[in-house]
Amino acid sequence: MIDTFGRAVTYLRVSVTDRCDFRCVYCMAEDMTFLPKREVLTLEELDRLCSAFIAKGVRKLRLTGGEPLVRRNIMSMIRGLSRHLESGALEELTLTTNGSQLHRFSGELYDCGVRRINVSLDTLEKDRFRAITRWGDLGKVMDGIRAATDAGLKVKINMVALKGVNEHEILPMTRWCHEHGYDLTLIETMPLGEIDGDRTDQYLPLSLVRARIAEEFTLTDIPYKTGGPARYVEVEETGGRLGFITPMTHNFCESCNRVRITCTGMLYMCLGQDDSADLRAPLRASEGDELLFAAIDEAIGRKPKGHDFIIDRRTKRPAVSRHMSVTGG
Ligand code: GTP
Ligand code: 5AD
Ligand code: SF4
Repeated sequence: MIDTFGRAVTYLRVSVTDRCDFRCVYCMAEDMTFLPKREVLTLEELDRLCSAFIAKGVRKLRLTGGEPLVRRNIMSMIRGLSRHLESGALEELTLTTNGSQLHRFSGELYDCGVRRINVSLDTLEKDRFRAITRWGDLGKVMDGIRAATDAGLKVKINMVALKGVNEHEILPMTRWCHEHGYDLTLIETMPLGEIDGDRTDQYLPLSLVRARIAEEFTLTDIPYKTGGPARYVEVEETGGRLGFITPMTHNFCESCNRVRITCTGMLYMCLGQDDSADLRAPLRASEGDELLFAAIDEAIGRKPKGHDFIIDRRTKRPAVSRHMSVTGG
C-alpha cells in the first residue's frame, strides 16, 4: 500500500474498544458515552480486517483502545493474530495499554509472541495518578509493569507532558524508567475531542523540556530510522533511551507509515484529520475480501499529507472532533 506521497503503509493501529477503565483528562471527558455494543465489530470481524491489511502489506500491528485489555476475550483474538507472526507475514504484534490489566495478561501476551509493549504512565505519584486518570490505581499499574517485565516483555513508558501537572516529574521519571530498563517517550498533548480540562493551558512544548533535561544529562541523538513519530536520544548517564513525540511543534508526517481502524471498522488515514472510510460495510457485504481490498485501496489513496494541529487560544476548540480514545492515538 503506497499512498499518493510515496509513503508505504506498513503499520496498522487497531482500536479494539472505545472503552477504558480510566478517564485520562487529556483523552476523555469524565461523562463519556460509549458506543452501544451492537455498533462494535466482533473479534472475528476485527481479525478479518487485520488479516486483510496484513495480506496487503502491513508488517506491524498495534492494538489500542480505549484500553485494549478491557475488551472481553481479547486474548483469544491476540492468540489468533499470532498465526501471522508464525507464518512470518507479520513482524511485530504489540499493544499500547494503560497497564491496569497487565498483572493478568502479561504471561499470555508473551506466549502469543508479543515482545514489546507501550504503557501510558504520566506520574509516579499516587494522588496525581488518580487525578490525571480520574480514578486509576497507581499500585495496580506498577504491579502490572513488573509482571510484564517478569514475563519477558520489553516495556516503553509513554508520558504525556502536562504543564504545571507533571512537568517537574520528567527528570525523576527518566531516572526511574532507565533504572528499571524501560525506555521513556515524552508526548506533547494533542487537541482531540471535547474534554473538560483546558488544553491551551496544559500544552508544554517539548523543545523546552529537552533543553531542561540537557542541563542535567548528556543527550546524544540517535539517527532516525523507525518511521514513527518519536525522535530518540541516548542519555549518557543512565544508558537509557528517551523519545520525544512533538506533533504540535514538529511535524513528522513526511515519513508516516501508518493508518488506524476503530472498533466500528472506520479507517482513519491520519490521526490529526477527520477524514475516514467505512470498512464495516464492505466487510459485511461479502465473505470474500475483494470489496474490502478495494475500499482499503481507495482510502489509502486519500491519505493526507499530514496533520495540522492547532490549539486555538481564543476558542479552545479541538482540532479534531473525535476523542483520542476512538482511534487510540
Ligand atoms: P512505537 O512502536 O514504540 O514507536 O510506538 P508508537 O509511538 O507508534 O505508538 P504509541 O501507541 O506508544 O503512541 C505514542 C504517541 O504517539 C501517542 O500519543 C500517539 O497518539 C502518538 N502517535 C502515534 N502515531 C502518530 C501519528 O501518526 N501522528 C501523530 N500525530 N501522533 C501519533
Ligand atoms: N495527546 C497526546 N497523547 C495522548 N494520549 C492519549 N491522549 C493524548 C493526547 N490528547 C496518549 C496516551 C497513550 C497513547 C496511545 O496516546 O497516553 O500512551
Ligand atoms: Fe484510557 Fe489511555 Fe485514554 Fe487514559 S489515555 S483514558 S488510559 S485510553
